[in-house]
Amino acid sequence: MKPAPFRLERYFAAHEFSAPYLLCSSDCESVDIRELLALEPQAHDDFLRLRLGYTESLGSPDLRRAITALYAGIAADEVLVHAGAEEAIFNFMHVALEAGDQVIVHSPYYQSLGEVARTLGAEVAEWRGDPEHGWALDLAALRQQLTPRTRVVVVNFPHNPTGFLPTGEFVRELSALAEQRGFIVFSDEVYRGLEAERTDRLPAFADVNERAVSLGVLSKTYGLPGLRIGWIATHDRELYRRMAAFKDYTTICNSAPSEFLATLALRHAETLAARNQQIIQDNLDRLDGFFAAHMDVFAWHRPKAGSVAFPALRRGNVEVFCAKLIRDAGVLLLPGTLYGPDLNCFRIGFGRKNLPAALHRLEAYMREARSA
Ligand SMILES: Cc1ncc(COP(=O)(O)O)c(C=O)c1O
Repeated sequence: MKPAPFRLERYFAAHEFSAPYLLCSSDCESVDIRELLALEPQAHDDFLRLRLGYTESLGSPDLRRAITALYAGIAADEVLVHAGAEEAIFNFMHVALEAGDQVIVHSPYYQSLGEVARTLGAEVAEWRGDPEHGWALDLAALRQQLTPRTRVVVVNFPHNPTGFLPTGEFVRELSALAEQRGFIVFSDEVYRGLEAERTDRLPAFADVNERAVSLGVLSKTYGLPGLRIGWIATHDRELYRRMAAFKDYTTICNSAPSEFLATLALRHAETLAARNQQIIQDNLDRLDGFFAAHMDVFAWHRPKAGSVAFPALRRGNVEVFCAKLIRDAGVLLLPGTLYGPDLNCFRIGFGRKNLPAALHRLEAYMREARSA
């Protein structure tokens, strides 16, 4: 079966490089190559001397070692590097699933987390967060959905698009349930490291569960999506071996310049993340002010983590609202219907420095709409 069009990515393909004010990006503020190379005195010369041969298929040993610093107990040979998180999702699903398996996906969800499984003939069920309670997940609801065919449960904390972040206790309970019922947790952690409070950061799933797979990437927290460097971390040797072999049919190995820059960036991971965290907190303060002034139109819930949130539109149709906004004000928001038909919400992104200007445009547009 072929995958259905990736609605969100098609929407971005139409607008991302033409909309004057992007206000729904999920990646944080990026840096240029010069800024990265300035992080270490030798980096510039070393980069110019880099040979452009094939790289190690698993990811360079230096890069994999640098990635292990993001985990409590993951070794370099438990990290497998991919071209972004997207390749890792595709490869994991192909290796882990057979037709007829059931996959339960934390929803609403980034489309590939469910769509790839569907193309493989798996049945995809949704584990929907509760919008009345900050999009929280309920473990009792998951227990009811489990069947003997449940092979994988996909979670995404901090969550795209809602910003939901559970507690560490929730993670441990889900891990215990996975052991009891024999399913693999595929944990999309691409926004990990963007918690307002350090104490809210969850342990990586691969650190708490022997069979779980943690998904990481440089795109979001570190603002480096152009490097296309993502990875999985897992203690499950057999799954790792099979994913490594599957990669021979997708990208074989990663780009050498990307691996070099990614390794350098990860040696300064805290600095890059802290910079984006500061941008986010400043932007969220602005959004609090904006939404407080428009409570009759929007339902806002300030998230504890991540770079996106999912406010509801209290009146009117969100697709019409977003279409008029881009047409009349040049501000791009992402209608929730790209995540599911019944979601009269929109995704707003706040990891970038352009937010004050974009919000200023949105505010002016709202004022005009009110007086019209
Ligand atoms: C939850 C989630 N997972 C995976 C990805 C894919 O990440 P990348 O574009 O770096 O491959 C995204 C990107 O938006 C995402 O939001």
